[in-house]
Amino acid sequence: MTVKKNILSAIQPTGQMHLGNYLGAVQNWVKLQENYHCTYGVVDYHAMTMPYNAQELRKNTLDMVMSLVACGVKIENLFVQSLIPEHTELTWILNCMASYHELTRQTQFKDKMSLLEENISNSFITSGLFTYPVLQAADILIYHPHFVPVGKDQKQHIELSRNIANRFNYQFQTDYFREPQALFTEIPKVQSLADPAKKMSKSLGEKHCLFLFEEENTLRKKIKSAVTDVGDTSEGQISPGVENLFSIINSLGNKDLYKDLMKEYASGAKMYGKLKEGVATTVVPFVNALREKKEEIKEDKDFTEKIRASSAEIRKKAQKTLIEVREIVGLF
Ligand code: TRP
Repeated sequence: MTVKKNILSAIQPTGQMHLGNYLGAVQNWVKLQENYHCTYGVVDYHAMTMPYNAQELRKNTLDMVMSLVACGVKIENLFVQSLIPEHTELTWILNCMASYHELTRQTQFKDKMSLLEENISNSFITSGLFTYPVLQAADILIYHPHFVPVGKDQKQHIELSRNIANRFNYQFQTDYFREPQALFTEIPKVQSLADPAKKMSKSLGEKHCLFLFEEENTLRKKIKSAVTDVGDTSEGQISPGVENLFSIINSLGNKDLYKDLMKEYASGAKMYGKLKEGVATTVVPFVNALREKKEEIKEDKDFTEKIRASSAEIRKKAQKTLIEVREIVGLF
């Protein structure tokens, strides 16, 4: 028997998950569990780097864990970041191995910084936001993963983690940290329903998203009013709105319906009503099943205990790493 390789990834507790999040990350996490030893974190320390509300953070963290489990992530593979304080201890140590300049070059930091600077009433940029990629490096390196499945937007952060691992190994003449490899998976592009030129994102507003645990009637309404033709597409070219609807049907695995509708579309028929119906017949049962699963999880009185227990189990690995790291770096 070959030993399974390790996978580590993490997600911020951002509140409601939408179809784009699911198809972009979570679906892949679930699949990877078959062939890898997977560890997935809900990273609440990361969520503190932007303005937030304490009660909401705690609620969103538990909610994200429940959503992930409802989607098929095994609870024993999941941890809540703040239940493993070794992540922050390692962050300090790695902070002393990352350079000010390489952190300044991180594009996500620059983007988030300008987002904050646009906001006159709250333009306070924390040093937590600045060192966020080092916390991410700690999340990763602490479990010695071979692969880190992430979206393309995280490429630079993974690169930084590799550099830090490398520098650590060089500075202490060891091969202690494994240089993790990013695993960029083919992910379907899921666009906003109301403005299909843009990526589906909660920050655009509710009407742009199909949420993963949404009620049937609002789902149907949003699908019905999805933007299809925007008027400026040339003959024979599929408009972004139509393409998006097809892509949703296809990525949720309704291949036969996808093929039938595509054939009809290719024959030149105006069939947007039918296409939207196809989206509804694909999305609604899928979301209904997930919502029911999540309701069941919410009923489970022991759920909080279970995520605490799995975090405690995963913490043992982090503790072992810290004992070894403290030895290597010369702490007392
Ligand atoms: N920064 C990642 C994001 O915004 C989330 C994240 C935190 C992460 N720690 C990680 C992803 C470790 C992969 C591995 O999506």
